[in-house]
This record gives sequence, C-alpha cells and structure tokens, in this order.
Amino acid sequence: MAKKTVRDLNLKDKKVLVRVDFNVPLAKDGSITDDTRIVAALPTIEYVIAQGGKAILFSHLGRIKTEEDKATNSMKPVAERLSQLINKPVKFVGVTRGKALEDAIAEMKSGDVLMFENTRFEDLDGNKESKNNDELGKYWASLGDVFVNDAFGTAHRAHASNVGISANIKEAVAGFLLEKEINFIGGALENPKRPFVAILGGAKVSDKIEVIQNLLKIADKVLIGGGMAFTFLKAQGFEVGKSLVELDKVDLAKELLEQANGKIELGFDVVTGKAFDANTETNVRDFDSIPADEMGLDIGPKTVERFKEIISSAQTVVWNGPQGVFEMEKFENGTKQVALALAEIFPNATTIVGGGDSAAAVAKFDLESKFSHISTGGGASLEYLEGKVLPGIAAVHEA
Ligand code: 3PG
Repeated sequence: MAKKTVRDLNLKDKKVLVRVDFNVPLAKDGSITDDTRIVAALPTIEYVIAQGGKAILFSHLGRIKTEEDKATNSMKPVAERLSQLINKPVKFVGVTRGKALEDAIAEMKSGDVLMFENTRFEDLDGNKESKNNDELGKYWASLGDVFVNDAFGTAHRAHASNVGISANIKEAVAGFLLEKEINFIGGALENPKRPFVAILGGAKVSDKIEVIQNLLKIADKVLIGGGMAFTFLKAQGFEVGKSLVELDKVDLAKELLEQANGKIELGFDVVTGKAFDANTETNVRDFDSIPADEMGLDIGPKTVERFKEIISSAQTVVWNGPQGVFEMEKFENGTKQVALALAEIFPNATTIVGGGDSAAAVAKFDLESKFSHISTGGGASLEYLEGKVLPGIAAVHEA
C-alpha cells in the first residue's frame, strides 16, 4: 500500500518533527568520518524549510548504556555538520525533553532548523526510547504538528522516536529518503524487472539465511561469494582448507541448494591466502583443489567471469555483501569486478546496494554515482530483503 509522503502535507508555519537517522561514524576526537546519512536526508530537510515549515530534527547516535556514553554520543557535532551542509544555523538543544526544548521550539520561525539531543539518552531511564515507551512517544508527538519519518536506517526498530510518534500524531508521513528506499528495495522485491539477480556475500551464512530464502523465492539467479560461499562448497562435498565454514550450517546449505533448483551460482574458483593477512602469499584455486593449509579470501577469475556474464543481462540487481576481503588489496578484485559490472549495466538496469559493507566497497572504488540506489540502512535493508515488515515503515500513515 502506498504511504503518505511529505509532499502530501501543507507545512507552512507548521512545527514539523523530522526523524532522521544521523547515526554516523565518529572518530575518537568526535569528528564525523562519513556524513553520507546526513547528506541523504538533505532533500527532506531543505523541502521542509522551503515550504515554510519549522524543522525539528532528531536522531539516535550509538547505543547509550551508561552516563559516560552520553559524552561521546552527543548530536552536537552532527548539528554543526548539518549547519555547514545547509548553509544556515541549526539550533542545537542539548536535552531530549523539558522546558528548554519546549521554549526553543516555541521561539522557532518558519524556515528555522532545530536539532535536539540523542533520542537514546532516554534509554538510561528504563530504555524508554528503545522500548517505545508510550509516554515518551506521546510527549515527542506533542512537540510538533506533523511527523516526517526519514530514518530508513532505523526502520527495523520499533522505537518511541519513529513508531511511538507515528501512533500519536495526526499526520505521520515518509520523507524523500524513506520514500526512495521503499521505492527501490520494496519495488525490487515486489515487482522486479527481470532477469532479477541477487548477489550475496559477506562472512557468514548464518547472517543471511533468511535473505537467501526470501530471494530464492523472488530472484532468477542468486550469486553467492565471500566467506559464506565456503559453507555451500562444503555442502557440495568440496574440501575448503582453512576457509571460513560454519559446520552447523552445512546441512542447511545443502537444503538451500536443493530448493534453489539451479538458481544459486557459486562460480568455479577462489583466490586463496595462507593466512588472513594483507601480505600473505596468494594462489588461484579451483573449488576441487583448495589445499588444506590455504583459505579462500576472494572469488577467483573464472567466478568473476561467470558472475559478470549473469550480471550483464540483468534488469534488476540487489547486492548485499562483499565477494572477498575487499579491505585488503590482494583480495579486493572480486568485489571490485562485481561493482564495475554493475556500474556497466547502469542506468539501463536498476542496481541496488544494501547498506553496510557493500556500500563501503562501492565508496572505496569510487563508484557511488554509478548505481541506482545505495541504501543508507545496513540492518534495515537486510531485514527488508528478508521479507520482513519494517515497523518504522509500517507506522507511516497510508495514503
Ligand atoms: C544503523 O546504523 O544500522 C541504524 O542507525 C540502527 O542502529 P542500531 O543498530 O544501533 O539500532
């Protein structure tokens, strides 16, 4: 069902609560090391301002378990970065409730931007934010006239600052980023142009079981590389040396291979190392000749060619998980070649990258502009691909 979006509201002079996911990585000195999530929310923030709304922004940052966590997870540096990006003052209010916040909101003029403190500071008092405390959701909802949820990265959480507010306010709509994530990821899952190819990777099968099961139902091909491929190779009877294998998942991998009926592609070869080390000696090995003292750390050249061939005729691709240890130069090639093959079919095909490691790989190879969509949610995009209903999306009102 279609969701209401920020376009459906009259924002003029309204107090507009905007839930963003500004859970950005911070360096030890508190500086922001990657502002992708802030940049991704700018269209919504700028729209609210341009329409004459009063933008009241808030997000979680990190996980708050002790008083000390508060010092290292304040939203203040994020407010400052946002201010630079929108080239206008962002009033930072260092609390999550109370008179100082209410007064600051009362003083806002149309087009002003305010950000209040980390919503998870409320977790120190009985996990109020993370447990979607009813009083807290109602209180935050009472601070605004309407609610815009643009926090896709948090959509798999049912927290007070997304689900709680949505349940207690007249209008709860999607911002442009949330809408885009729904259109791309939801669109691929519900109505993909075919052939629809899923590319999965990452270390463990156990992290991706439900994704594989769900995508096997929908996709025409499921390409599997990365550490998780070795559990599948083991299930096919290959000796995989010192490669990462989840022995307790070998039977499951066998079942998935049977269910897949030829849809799963593992390729033919791997690049091995003697150790998990950037300087280790490397070899290319076919699946049936991986020595006992070597470990597979990347997909091999024949696998790359097979994957490229399948990708070249795809109309929709969802990619979640690197194909090798792309952080090490000797084992980056598989992931890089997959990224380049996807860049090649864009824009004639829809190419979607799940958040997290694969998004980091695309950034490493400087290919961000060559994809249809790079998700801003790691956990959220994974659960979306598992076919789950994301509470943050479900709570946004229907059009
Ligand atoms: C993320 O970074 O995946 C989201 O912001 C959610 O954060 P969380 O896992 O701490 O809930």
